[in-house]
Amino acid sequence: MAPGKIILFGEHFVVAGKPAIGLAVSKYAVVCVDQGPGNLYSSRLGRLSFEQEHGKLFNAVFRTFEQMTGIKPSVDVFIDSEIPIGAGMGSSAAVAVALSHSLLTYYGVKPEKELVWKIAHEGERAVHFRPSGVDTTLATYGGILYYRQGEFRRLNVQLPRDYEIVVVNTGVQRSTGTVVKEVLDRYSRLQRIGVYIYLAAEELVERAVGALREGDVKILGELMTVNHGLLWSMGASSVVCDTIVHALVEMGALGAKLSGAGRGGIVIGLADSNTSPLIIRSLEEKGFEAFSVTPDYEGVRETQPKYLSEVSTN
Ligand code: PMV
Repeated sequence: MAPGKIILFGEHFVVAGKPAIGLAVSKYAVVCVDQGPGNLYSSRLGRLSFEQEHGKLFNAVFRTFEQMTGIKPSVDVFIDSEIPIGAGMGSSAAVAVALSHSLLTYYGVKPEKELVWKIAHEGERAVHFRPSGVDTTLATYGGILYYRQGEFRRLNVQLPRDYEIVVVNTGVQRSTGTVVKEVLDRYSRLQRIGVYIYLAAEELVERAVGALREGDVKILGELMTVNHGLLWSMGASSVVCDTIVHALVEMGALGAKLSGAGRGGIVIGLADSNTSPLIIRSLEEKGFEAFSVTPDYEGVRETQPKYLSEVSTN
């Protein structure tokens, strides 16, 4: 199984060379392979075909696996994922990483993380236009990642115990490409104002690294809200994102922001573990999918395929 991810700080600004922080989270994609003619089953989507959109990922992973190991896989694949689809939580990367890991394990090749990553990244490339590799890296290695222009640095920090990230799915699907383009267009129109906003975003990430090292959740939360403000000023937010940010903070979150491309997708808040169940219940009553996550520090690993009997193979 492999974890999903959220972006804690720096989305969009990262596209123009500023740093960002991503976090692997405790929502997982479980993938199991077993001898078979190559059928694909998903507990959530039912039977999948290699010809459909999802199939591209499996084709690419199978092909790269064969190129790298010399083994032609002949297996059925079972997927059980609890990561929301199309919400910016790295669901396809987690599936690709978990599949890469289970193929290697099934065929007796040691699932070294570097190899797992390489095979999975080809899967991501097949379904996402020029993926940065962040999702695949977090699904493979877990933890808290500082990244900038294709360089990844795993931070040796932990979120303080008793604190969780509340994730709220707006249910609004958006095109990452469109939002990225419009944000960049505004950036160039704003000229020096844009430069200052992006400098503030950069400084904010450096400050957040310090807050994580010191375990200062108060400033961490505050930085999240400020990050949301900067994203808002660049046009990456929306009424539903702003409404949820306000609701989270009003209900006791230490800070909140959109996470990922914005204008929908997910909104995250930082809350202590006593407060988060109350926040989640209240958001669920308003009709949103909401749950809490904690960081996953391990990344991809083997697990018992307990779900197998529950997956319909029809
Ligand atoms: O919503 P996601 O996880 O696809 O994140 C998009 C993050 C952006 O910074 C907006 C784009 C990018 O490629 O980094």
